[in-house]
Amino acid sequence: MPSTGRPPRRATPRRYAMCRPEHFAVAYEINPWMDASVAVDRDLALAQWETLRRTYTGLGHEVDVVPALPGQPDMVFAANGGVVVRGRALGARFAHPERAAEGPAFAAWLRGAGVAVHEPEHVGEGEGDFLVVGERVLAGTGFRTAPAAHEEAARVLGVEVVPLRLVDPRYYHLDTALAVLADDDVAYVAGAFDAESRATLERLYPDALLVEDADAAVLGLNAVSDGLHVVLPAAATAMAADLDARGYVPVPVDLSELLKGGGSVKCCTLELR
Ligand code: ARG
Repeated sequence: MPSTGRPPRRATPRRYAMCRPEHFAVAYEINPWMDASVAVDRDLALAQWETLRRTYTGLGHEVDVVPALPGQPDMVFAANGGVVVRGRALGARFAHPERAAEGPAFAAWLRGAGVAVHEPEHVGEGEGDFLVVGERVLAGTGFRTAPAAHEEAARVLGVEVVPLRLVDPRYYHLDTALAVLADDDVAYVAGAFDAESRATLERLYPDALLVEDADAAVLGLNAVSDGLHVVLPAAATAMAADLDARGYVPVPVDLSELLKGGGSVKCCTLELR
């Protein structure tokens, strides 16, 4: 075996929460991907979502399903429901009133699952903008999550929080611009960040996988890794090849219907830690 100087990639079993797109629609426009005049095929969305759920269970992960609230067409994007570290969560407070009701719904569900949920004081959209990388949390701001929520997360979760500023409206949540691959490894699209944040990422992750705009623009970075398998949008083909070269196993999944809402694999997945 060729030596890469890197330890072999290793999968660890995960527990995810997902929310079936029973009420999925593009009913309003709160990110540049959403066009309310475009029809959504809900049956196709449900089928694609089910494929994602089965992909996780097939990889040996546990998936809990959060009941979908009628009238909340974006609730399928469960990542936004909070951020959980060691059984504690910072709940979500949404930037847009259209999604406000999801915050308490996810919080109630998390409490039922045994998670201690802190009621958020500041606008924060869960794992959309808070990504756990090993012992640290990378936190996005610029479009949704407020900087004050970064401090709140550090306090509530007892972790180091590294703020990153997003500048491209297509990448409005951190999880559309950066993927966590392992406890010490990330992938990102540099153009999504301001110069200071790019410098921070280069310092923290000098060997990060830099993804080209062509793959980022199909939300390729909206991926979920268990440390070995990286479940990612099928259209991100160059990124999949790069992951393979780094010792990961890319697992492509087609979520084209959910992309109409501006989300993909990671947006549909909240990790319970
Ligand atoms: N339509 C949703 C919104 O704009 C999509 C959320 C995607 N979620 C994510 N984790 N990036 O809020």
